[in-house]
Amino acid sequence: GLMGAVTVAAFAVPFLSAWKPSEKAKALGASVKFDLSKLQPGAMAIVEWRRTPIFVVHQTQEAIDNLPKLNDKVTDQANEILPSNEKKFTVLKGVCTHLSCAPKYHPEIEPKAWDQEWLGGFFCPCHGSHYDTSGRIRKGPAPTNLEIPKYEFVNNNTIKIG
Ligand code: FES
Repeated sequence: GLMGAVTVAAFAVPFLSAWKPSEKAKALGASVKFDLSKLQPGAMAIVEWRRTPIFVVHQTQEAIDNLPKLNDKVTDQANEILPSNEKKFTVLKGVCTHLSCAPKYHPEIEPKAWDQEWLGGFFCPCHGSHYDTSGRIRKGPAPTNLEIPKYEFVNNNTIKIG
């Protein structure tokens, strides 16, 4: 019985150290800060976090005002992602919830080939899903809104993702 325990302990040590995260793995999991001050209204930045593109959008007042007009067309009613007049930044994973393509940001309010009444948002060219500027899904095949990564405001001009 005792020999068995000793043997297990001897094997357990190298096993555990192999499970310690490497510096590379730690860096991958680390949070990323982003300075919002240079992002003009209407502009979007793509920040890489955990090998995932994160879309950071500075909403224009017009885009915020237009969002309620799209409420009827939104098929996934989780609407906590709506930006408010106080909080004009939207942070989303830039990964289509259909089959993980990268949706393209089209903030222009103008008729598009895929929607004559386009009010700005994200269009996924792979199979034609439409998301509004806040990431809500308006037209599939994507089943749900763009995901929101964990993030927080560190101060008025800086967010920390992760
Ligand atoms: Fe975006 Fe299919 S991957 S619509």
